[in-house]
Amino acid sequence: MKAEGAIEAASSMEDVNRARVRYLGRKSELKQALKDVRDPETGKLLNNLQARLQAAVDQRNWLLHKADLDRRLTQEVVDVTLPGEARPRGHLHLITQIRREVEDIFLGLGYQVVDGSEVETTHYNFDALNFPADHPARSPLQSVFLNGDVLFRTETSPSQIRVMESRPPPIYMVSLGRVYRRDTPDATHTPIFHQVEGLAVDRGITMADLKGTLLHMMRALFGEEREMRFRTHDFPFTEPSLEPDVSCFLCDGAGCPVCRYSGWIEIAGSGMVDPALFEFVGLDPEEWTGFAFGMGLERVAMLRHGLPALGLLWENDLRVLRQF
Ligand code: DAH
Repeated sequence: MKAEGAIEAASSMEDVNRARVRYLGRKSELKQALKDVRDPETGKLLNNLQARLQAAVDQRNWLLHKADLDRRLTQEVVDVTLPGEARPRGHLHLITQIRREVEDIFLGLGYQVVDGSEVETTHYNFDALNFPADHPARSPLQSVFLNGDVLFRTETSPSQIRVMESRPPPIYMVSLGRVYRRDTPDATHTPIFHQVEGLAVDRGITMADLKGTLLHMMRALFGEEREMRFRTHDFPFTEPSLEPDVSCFLCDGAGCPVCRYSGWIEIAGSGMVDPALFEFVGLDPEEWTGFAFGMGLERVAMLRHGLPALGLLWENDLRVLRQF
């Protein structure tokens, strides 16, 4: 039959559709005949014919669709071993990396990581840390006051007081975060920077504990071969106070620009907790002993990576930040 032949010969779905319109569409002879039909016999015959043609259309469409699918399945195979499209991925800022590194070092020693407050009162920032009334850091020329006795903390040391007030010793804690000073930005100063504060309070703590702990931190940060030396210093909240120097990791003590040809790098402040602090927070200085230290995280970053200027860490220039 002609109609069936045309449907079966159709080589695309468009051809099938054309044949369907021609032989089964509203204007087709078949539809016309169905409209005019009078006797049931002919009607039945024509209906059967219509069903057969429709089945042929469906069958042809299905075959063409299957052939197309087979072709695509063999031709358009995806090679799953091809490399994917690289998505640019960010990473943590260098200071955040160092912050976490220091936290990990002390978590490994059984210390707690404690959050401090960036806005402090002069009580916690100065008085309870034993700063004398005329200490220059109390001046609004050096520190950023919000109003009256509220200021942006100038160091992380207030966390020492807050922790000692919040729970009884033994205390082994570090507190890391931002500090604020009215410094004019230059290669080694920015008005905001980061510090780590450490505090250990227990019975029978000696300077040997302080030295051993700092040596452990310096070796973890700057390499296992590092040595340390301590110079006496003066901080209001420690007695005695010590400034630890670490042997230069670049020249190993021989002398180079990084250590200014001294072989040693000044890196932190530390000391034994001043008994006055214990009294301020209601601890018996005859019973309790402790050590404390503070260190700038930017300084660690600059030394370790040879950064020529601190500002590079704040400018958010991806060409710089991507390197770390
Ligand atoms: N707070 C000092 C500073 O900002 C650093 C410091 C020195 C912290 C000695 C300490 C310490 O805990 O014992 O310069």
